[in-house]
Amino acid sequence: MSMTPSSELDPCILVIFGATGDLTQRKLYPALASLASAGRLPDSFAVVAVGRRDKTDGMVRQEANRAAGVDAGKVNVDRAGKLFQRLHYFKMDFDDTAAYPRLRGLLERLDEEYHTGGNRIYFLAVAPHYFGTIAAHLHSQGMAANTGPWQRVVVEKPFGRNLVSARQLNQRLTQAFSEKQVYRIDHYLGKEMLQNLMVIRFANTLFEPLWNSRYIEEVQISVSETVGVEGRGAYYEEAGALRDMVQNHMLQLLTLTAMEPPAALDADSIRDEKVKVLRSIRPSSLEELASSAIRGQYGRGMIDGRPVVGYRQEERVDAASQTETYVALKVHIDSFRWSGVPFYLRTGKRLPVRSAEIIIRFREQPGVLYFRQKHDMLGPNLLVIKIQPEEGVFLQFNAKQPGTQSTIVPVKMDYCQNCHAGLNSPEAYERLLADVMRGDSTLFTRWDEVEYAWNFIDQIALMWEKSEAKLELYPAGSWGPLGADRLLHANGHKWLLPFQCLLSERPSYSSPDG
Ligand code: BG6
Repeated sequence: MSMTPSSELDPCILVIFGATGDLTQRKLYPALASLASAGRLPDSFAVVAVGRRDKTDGMVRQEANRAAGVDAGKVNVDRAGKLFQRLHYFKMDFDDTAAYPRLRGLLERLDEEYHTGGNRIYFLAVAPHYFGTIAAHLHSQGMAANTGPWQRVVVEKPFGRNLVSARQLNQRLTQAFSEKQVYRIDHYLGKEMLQNLMVIRFANTLFEPLWNSRYIEEVQISVSETVGVEGRGAYYEEAGALRDMVQNHMLQLLTLTAMEPPAALDADSIRDEKVKVLRSIRPSSLEELASSAIRGQYGRGMIDGRPVVGYRQEERVDAASQTETYVALKVHIDSFRWSGVPFYLRTGKRLPVRSAEIIIRFREQPGVLYFRQKHDMLGPNLLVIKIQPEEGVFLQFNAKQPGTQSTIVPVKMDYCQNCHAGLNSPEAYERLLADVMRGDSTLFTRWDEVEYAWNFIDQIALMWEKSEAKLELYPAGSWGPLGADRLLHANGHKWLLPFQCLLSERPSYSSPDG
């Protein structure tokens, strides 16, 4: 992934459509304030917040300062405060044709004032059904043309609901902007350890020779959340965990783990390799999928010692909803490297801890020497890429317990990247916004990635639609439906607990049931 220093960001105006919404407040304003704090924003820069409500510049500036914690001293007050002095509000309805020339007029005035040279980022933090409308209007007003100053458009997920709707969406978007101008965000790609994964794999002699079916028994990719749907019931009823997490974030984790070394570190070489992984996912019949794609939904239970309601009792959720809040999958990648290695993916809401990890379990040695005599004492060799909350790498191997004659214990080498004060990793959106300003699309999803991902997801959705089997309920605060355990037991495997669940005195990784 790109390692370019981030100081040379191009001058530009960031235009946020949907600026009064949740994403802008929770992610974009704080990310901008952090970039400003670190002195990484160009001097010639301004932000235009576009929304449908009645607001003044003063009001949005206050909101932005509050959202970014400027007054609470979370960022450099002077720099972030100055940035938000360059924040302007523009009220419009997104389908009001007459508003676009007025918006263009404002942007041209701001170009003069801030010397931003006509470069624009249009960040569409709006419901996807507006993507096409906004893009078409920008195009017809000559605001999308990439000749001279650059024009880039950023879109958030959900990018469609299935392959057909994603294609329609993409078609409308690319009628206005070329593929090179489109930045499809998957915020997991902005996470520090995902970028580090490629470095760990391809900048070490240690791992790459072992990174294949000869040495690897299984790969587990787990993203667990303690939160429920947090007031997003209406959206979630449409999406479910399959579309909300698997289609995008989980498949990104899979492709980065499984991809071949790219020919170079540019965006297209990397994305070409990721696409190859998606294309190599073994196609399954509906019957096969029925046993390799498990879904569950949380019922009431306890999280962090307090009772929580079940999914069906959440606001704006159907009382008989069949929407999944948990998915576990077994995926096979038909390539020379991975033939025969199962990749287990699981993600769910209202699980016991918040964690994201990729666990590589290596094969056992042949049953001689210690593997014959002391098999019970040996733990598996594990390499764990810790994505959150801790960021780092953990390696487990067997060693003699000091002071004993022949007791063998699994020991851990643990590298924690964000445990040291002063080494705070940038938030995903901080990195991603800077990349858009720099024109580096490595950490954004290319259209063919989206297309292959939907292809895979659509098969699972279809199977669930046709299947008689109801989704399984699991109590909030548990590790999900029992079907997910059975999925692994069938291969003699078990889910491994996230690193943070291990008690320090516990010698090795173990499965939830002990
Ligand atoms: C979002 C999903 O894309 O990712 C949410 O829509 C989910 O449902 C979130 O909670 C998880 O992101 P993170 O960064 O908290 O792991």
